[in-house]
Amino acid sequence: TDKGFIFDLDGVVVDTARYHYKAWNRLATQLGFVFTQEHNELLKGVSRKKSLDILLNIGNITASEDQKQQWMEAKNQEYLEYIQKMTPDEILPNVPYILKHLKEEGHHIALGSASKNAVQILQKIMLFDAFDVIVDGTHVSKAKPDPEVFLKAAQEMNIRPENCVVFEDAVAGIQAAKAANMYAIGIGKKEVLIAADEVFPDFTTMTPQFLGAIWNVPKV
Ligand code: BG6
Ligand code: MG
Repeated sequence: TDKGFIFDLDGVVVDTARYHYKAWNRLATQLGFVFTQEHNELLKGVSRKKSLDILLNIGNITASEDQKQQWMEAKNQEYLEYIQKMTPDEILPNVPYILKHLKEEGHHIALGSASKNAVQILQKIMLFDAFDVIVDGTHVSKAKPDPEVFLKAAQEMNIRPENCVVFEDAVAGIQAAKAANMYAIGIGKKEVLIAADEVFPDFTTMTPQFLGAIWNVPKV
């Protein structure tokens, strides 16, 4: 078909936020301040670099670019240790079913993630082959809420942005999808993802009927 479905990775396909939290939390502890789960919410959908800046801001810490680079590398080393242990069991409920359904309908399927570790994660959870196109943090220069990642995915699928649907759990990701002129489905809480066109708590309540009706403009 001429429709494309773009999936964010972290928080949509897998719950990696807890691994990011553990790794960032170790850095915060080393630097001598408390980094809470609530603080961690601010890092969702945000690039590694921007995540560190937010974290340092919370701890009231300034540092040189070299120092920041070292901290990011250390954080990522720890994060990678958690990722190495991931298995397909960690795929969030109903995601494989939705992917299979969209494929059967002949739709194009892409990954649109800020993560530079996306390919490793997809391999660990055995979903690498489920996506026709993969655009991740290694392919973009502008992080969400900039629409670059999603526009690139649409372009590589050869689908017009207005014919794309984005699944996103982060505020910055919903903003990016809307800036790309795409239909944004939030995965999470309605009160948080206010700019989304529709919000589901997770994929278990999303039906093929709903997805099929997205482009049926209601008659007035
Ligand atoms: C996003 C996560 O998908 O990727 C963010 O939601 C994370 O929390 C970002 O900071 C970058 O990830 P990575 O794996 O490149 O450090
Ligand atoms: Mg996410």
